[in-house]
Amino acid sequence: MLILPFQLLAVLFPGGDSEDAFHGPTSFHVIQILSFANSTWKHNRGSGWLDDLQIHGWDSHLGTAVLLKPWSKGNFSDEEFAELEKIFRAHFHRFTQHIRGSDSQFQLKYPFEIQAIAGCELRSGGSTVSFFREAIGGLDFLNFEKDTCVPAPEGGSRAQHVCKLIIQYPAAINNVMKLLFDFCLQYLLGFLDAAKAELQRQVKPEAWLSTGPSPGPGRLLLVCHISGFYPKPVWVRWMRGEQEQLGTQHSDLLPNANWTWYLQVTLDVAAWEAAGLSCRVKHSSLEGQDIILHWGHPISIGLIFFTIIVPSLILLLCLALWYKRRWKFQDNP
Ligand SMILES: *[C@@H]1O[C@H](CO)[C@@H](O)[C@H](O)[C@H]1NC(C)=O
Ligand SMILES: *[C@@H]1O[C@H](CO)[C@@H](O)[C@H](O)[C@H]1NC(C)=O
Repeated sequence: MLILPFQLLAVLFPGGDSEDAFHGPTSFHVIQILSFANSTWKHNRGSGWLDDLQIHGWDSHLGTAVLLKPWSKGNFSDEEFAELEKIFRAHFHRFTQHIRGSDSQFQLKYPFEIQAIAGCELRSGGSTVSFFREAIGGLDFLNFEKDTCVPAPEGGSRAQHVCKLIIQYPAAINNVMKLLFDFCLQYLLGFLDAAKAELQRQVKPEAWLSTGPSPGPGRLLLVCHISGFYPKPVWVRWMRGEQEQLGTQHSDLLPNANWTWYLQVTLDVAAWEAAGLSCRVKHSSLEGQDIILHWGHPISIGLIFFTIIVPSLILLLCLALWYKRRWKFQDNP
């Protein structure tokens, strides 16, 4: 089985200063998702990522990479890139053949899905790390640490068996690792240059407020939406004045199609407590001018209706009934 393992290597990454100056992505990885519906039908998806940003797709019919950025080839020439596509094509083909050939041996029951992630990362302090992990049916199966195949506990005896098989081909593994390790690192370093302008851009977030589904009677779910910002790090809290509200919940950061990010930050409060709350956003693009949105007018009309008018009407009604009964008693002493 040809897989894409990488060694855990520590090599010196020159230029400590440039690290401080440039806070761009520091990792490149490829993801492969192979879906087997039955013994004849399979679908193969591949993608290439700088950190969490997708820069490659994979056309499984043509067996070629889809370039999502003008600089997705990094500093590789057309010929070098075509050569890499060929390696991936061959890998996908052999990997699929291998799975098909051993589905009964490994008791793989259709339908199933295999996910693999492989890549490299620059760490602060100048070290680099590479990784390869594989999962079956959403459960960890195996990973590589240095040049050793480590079966995951979730993978059971099957993973142990596969690792034993792989280890029987040390020379092949070493070659592939070396090739792919070098490829990944050169590629990543090439990207940092080619993509610099785009990776260093600052895009300001837009923010707006809404209510979410009511968490219960008399309660409100306040939602602060923050969208369209880049880079990824952002600080968002529900506040009362300068006081952070403890129950603030953050959604996952979701990607927009234009290479920016989206986040939802919610707070579950009693309806009468909502007034005076605000959503505060800090982001590098705002240069210290935080966005502050006050829980405001359009919703407070509804709030006033339910928290003041409705109870007042009920009170008036009770008073009216009480007076009516009193008058009745006075009429008939
Ligand atoms: C295999 O799965 C595909 C996709 O679900 C389906 O179209 C096809 O008919 C299936 N083939 C067999 C032999 O079950
Ligand atoms: C790409 O750039 C990196 C870093 O500058 C370098 O190490 C590598 O050799 C370059 N690769 C090619 C194919 O030019």
